[in-house]
Amino acid sequence: MTPVSNIIQKRYSCRSYADKPIPGSVLRQFSDAVNTPRQGPFGHTPRFVLISMASLSREDWKKLGTYGVIKNARLFLAGILQPTLPMAAQNYGYCKEQLILKATELDLGTCWLGGTFSIGAFGRAAGLRPGEVLPSISPIGYAADKRSLIERVMRRIAGSDFRKPWSELFFNDTFSSPLSRNEAGPYAEALENVRLAPSASNKQPWRIVYQEDRKTFSFYLSRTPGYWYPQEVSLQDIDMGIAMCHFELTAQQLGLKGFWCREDSAPQIKSLEYVVSWQVGD
Ligand SMILES: Cc1cc2nc3c(=O)[nH]c(=O)nc-3n(C[C@H](O)[C@H](O)[C@H](O)COP(=O)(O)O)c2cc1C
Repeated sequence: MTPVSNIIQKRYSCRSYADKPIPGSVLRQFSDAVNTPRQGPFGHTPRFVLISMASLSREDWKKLGTYGVIKNARLFLAGILQPTLPMAAQNYGYCKEQLILKATELDLGTCWLGGTFSIGAFGRAAGLRPGEVLPSISPIGYAADKRSLIERVMRRIAGSDFRKPWSELFFNDTFSSPLSRNEAGPYAEALENVRLAPSASNKQPWRIVYQEDRKTFSFYLSRTPGYWYPQEVSLQDIDMGIAMCHFELTAQQLGLKGFWCREDSAPQIKSLEYVVSWQVGD
């Protein structure tokens, strides 16, 4: 099995796809993962559907727009949730990122799209039911040799090749002191993999405080004021679920035991929203 850190390092948002079909055996492995129900840390199971261009008429295919952002993709992963469930968006980000990493492991390119896709047309193709929302879709396929101009522009606008330094993301005991890799101990790799996670417009809204006495990593959201979402689901709440996925998968692979909990006693910080804590131990 490929180490999860290698998969996380390999993943990037791929927006230009090659005209190369996915072999049946690879597609089967990915469809099996998509069709396996997965429950997130907040207890519900989002629904995932693969939309293949091969199964659509040319007319319907043309309607599945990504506003020119995605070039040549023939397969899309649609992830569906019920927004009224508690922590639905975080739960969804966690589950969908598992599939993104599965695709990456299979050498397939992916890209989270929360804004640049035609919601109505993809919703119809995914068979959206009453009470459900489709907050994001992702193209799946082999990367083209060359990135399109729009892809290069999008990466530059979002600053996709840059990540905030540890000192702005991870803290020791209180938000006034940064956490060093040494202080993070065996969890340094899990935190680094949070840092490498994709996030909407590359805002990297995750902030994590480690409290050694309580053995907890508390996750907070630094919400971007006025950030626009096309639907009722906050893309930054989804970002938090993606970060949880990277953190937990890395901890699991390193054999570090722990579990998620929502703590009443987590420190409250002005301008940050408390989301969840990872409690070290059984
Ligand atoms: C929830 C979410 C929504 C996103 N929505 C879009 C989108 O609508 N269009 C787009 O081109 N990229 C979108 N992205 C991709 C981000 O811009 C990208 O993850 C970020 O710039 C970091 O680059 P990287 O994924 O290559 O590491 C989204 C990412 C996430 C996590």
